Amino acid sequence: MIILGLCGDHDGGAALYDDYRLIAAVAQERVTRIKGDGGRFPMEAVRECLIQAGLEASQIEAVALSRGSYDLSYYKARARLTTPLSGSARRDLMRMMTFQWIGDPARAFDAPRYLADHGLRPDRIMFYNHHLAHGLSALFHTDYDDALIYTSDGQGDRVCYSARRLVGGRLRSLFGDETESRRLRRNRADSLGDFYGAATQALGFIRLRHEGKVLGLAAFGEPIYAEELRSHFRVREDGQIKATVRTGKIQQEFQRLAAQGRREDVAASVQQVLEQVTLESLEKIVSRERPRNLAASGGVFANVKLTQRIAEQLPFDEVFVSPAMSDQGQAAGGVLQFLLERDGLATFLAHRQKLGNLYFGRDYMAQADNVFLEAGAARVADGRIVDFAARMLADRRILGLYLGRCEYGPRALGARTIMASPADRSINDWLNKRLDRTEFMPFAPVVRDARVDEVFNLPKSLHYAARYMTVTCNVKPQWRDRIPAVVHVDGTARPQVIRRADNPTYYDILQRFEEISGLPCAINTSFNTHEEPIINRPEEAMRALDQGRIDLLVTETGIFAKNPLSNEKSSTSTGAALIAG
Ligand SMILES: [Fe+2]
Repeated sequence: MIILGLCGDHDGGAALYDDYRLIAAVAQERVTRIKGDGGRFPMEAVRECLIQAGLEASQIEAVALSRGSYDLSYYKARARLTTPLSGSARRDLMRMMTFQWIGDPARAFDAPRYLADHGLRPDRIMFYNHHLAHGLSALFHTDYDDALIYTSDGQGDRVCYSARRLVGGRLRSLFGDETESRRLRRNRADSLGDFYGAATQALGFIRLRHEGKVLGLAAFGEPIYAEELRSHFRVREDGQIKATVRTGKIQQEFQRLAAQGRREDVAASVQQVLEQVTLESLEKIVSRERPRNLAASGGVFANVKLTQRIAEQLPFDEVFVSPAMSDQGQAAGGVLQFLLERDGLATFLAHRQKLGNLYFGRDYMAQADNVFLEAGAARVADGRIVDFAARMLADRRILGLYLGRCEYGPRALGARTIMASPADRSINDWLNKRLDRTEFMPFAPVVRDARVDEVFNLPKSLHYAARYMTVTCNVKPQWRDRIPAVVHVDGTARPQVIRRADNPTYYDILQRFEEISGLPCAINTSFNTHEEPIINRPEEAMRALDQGRIDLLVTETGIFAKNPLSNEKSSTSTGAALIAG
């Protein structure tokens, strides 16, 4: 059965499955080039999925939809008539269902007409639950039979957290299920995701986009406001997190703190509160339920330091975070809920798959080399690519890797990656300038699976998660000065652990670089520039080369430079001219 999952809210996207096999998953922003694109039918992402699958829209048999916001014109008469007028043409379906006591979304919303207007006529339509979709997108990629499935985000379907317990072949809700979505009264201030977002905004960054900058800043500050901010939350005995104040109060407080204090201290305080409150919630659940593993998702789990703390302080055998933990993962999670409901838990669990690579975007490899050549790039190597690329890395050149299908989720993992040497601490300044970025966290390292324990104190429980860069860990002291570009001021790094099977070219370049340089890892930073989504098409990669953001473009079949005869050095390069071979 061909099943399409859709998410039309912020960070919109689509995912296409053939039963349990994920064929394609694409965030809307990758195609439209608008960061966080959403708030409408994700037409471009759907088209991209269909092209990859070689399918027509008419072959889609089932669609999984969110209960987020839709154009008012698709609501049925009763829902429309009883809706208070507001400036916006869109209404949130879950909210409407709650306040009008509508149990079945089909009674409020004309989904067949909505889909038909966008070229889809599936036999089956279902609406997924936001937090269950988050949770399943983590659980599906594990083999746990004893686990806690925990989600935390700004809010989705009127809920900010959920906890479910998988044990003895049963999946039981602890909190955050449909009953909570239907509760009339709620306090948005309960949400640690919103709390972090409010701080992000008060510190002059963009909410839902720059939370990572706050996390980076936190390591430079002292958590002097943490106690005061911590008092706004209490954790109930069952692990539920509740605010002791209303949303507006927290916002005002952040504005006051941001105006009077150092922003590093505000960031450190917010980070500490996020960690303490989440840990307390998890500790209470763990002491009651004693789950062996944790499968986590939701936007809050983009916070890599939080996951490190959880793994260090709680006795889980393994902690796995969905690599598409933000709402970019909703489309896939929605299809997983469809499958769970269609087949039942036992069948669903039996079909689970541990993740290999995350390359679920479109493959432009057949065109890429020609696009680069036609745009004026010169091929500087077409054989022995691995050796050439590694030598250029050791020579402190900046490589843009354009290999195979684009990654799914927010992280670059070797398909659209900028690779550089980690030996020079100052690269964080000059390369970020070149890429037109402001970052407070250093670049991340990529390390081969065989060497991870030699360089990092990565707990065993995080080895799987670290393949997808969802955690930080401590760098072993003896390596810190040799790879300074990837070590944060607090001695941590956010490694990508790479296995050869997941991306042989990427892996081989790294291994050869190790031999030449004597260093155990390289920089992996996402292939994009200021505020732009990660690169998707070859034209976008070429533009980065043209603009001098990178020195060389690397594909499976060639290495390309803007000017092959140039001996001009990149900011700190000591290298020789680019010579083919
Ligand atoms: Fe969410």
